[in-house]
Amino acid sequence: MVLRLEWKKMTMLALTAALILPWAGAGLQKARSEACPADAVLTQECELKLIALTFDDGPRRSTTTELLDGLAQRGVRATFFLIGEQVPGNEDLLRRMDEEGHQIGIHTYDHVMLTGLNAADFSAQVDRTRTVLKNALGHNDFLLRPPYGMVDDGVKRRAGCPIILWSVDPEDWDDKNTDRIVEHVVSRAKDGDIILLHDIYPTSVEAALRIVDALHQKGFYFLTVDELAAQRRLSLKAGSTYLNFYP
Ligand code: NI
Repeated sequence: MVLRLEWKKMTMLALTAALILPWAGAGLQKARSEACPADAVLTQECELKLIALTFDDGPRRSTTTELLDGLAQRGVRATFFLIGEQVPGNEDLLRRMDEEGHQIGIHTYDHVMLTGLNAADFSAQVDRTRTVLKNALGHNDFLLRPPYGMVDDGVKRRAGCPIILWSVDPEDWDDKNTDRIVEHVVSRAKDGDIILLHDIYPTSVEAALRIVDALHQKGFYFLTVDELAAQRRLSLKAGSTYLNFYP
């Protein structure tokens, strides 16, 4: 019941986000004007495209701080899926994310595969992290991203919240090549994509900010996962998986 109330609250928040999106009009206008001259006939190319940047495996004080600074300078909100055991000592970073409009989710307590776990082991990863986040932030409305994107019926049954996967993955952890990561994402990005990056590598932070600048030029506007779902009139359901929010 408590859970149901939380999700009702969450849906209300999502609807509110949809209603106040015009508040972000300045940013939208900026993105549009960079993509198209003021006197241009509005074509498909000039239409605003919406996209979500997501970051896994943080927080890490050095790189996450640099990323938050860069996103703040650009007026961009993102979604962070956090590792529970990395939260102690970094609570101020979480509160900053919250205050600056970013969304926060669960990426397990110490980055294990959730498939095949029994109820107690699942709870020790997901519920424990949910408690850590709740204690740091005072609310309890977190999405889940399972490590490696591994989902089975047990994960869906026990998640207790929507499960967010992704549609663009440059595998930024692999060669840590900023140019390649930027090219991978910018050349593939479509309206409604969910981009996966990791804010624990300096190369990924640099790539993320270059991706933001390049996609702004192409008329993209960055939203949190909840905001993007709300724009697509989707009410996210606990235990359901989402790979993208295409129109
Ligand atoms: Ni991960």
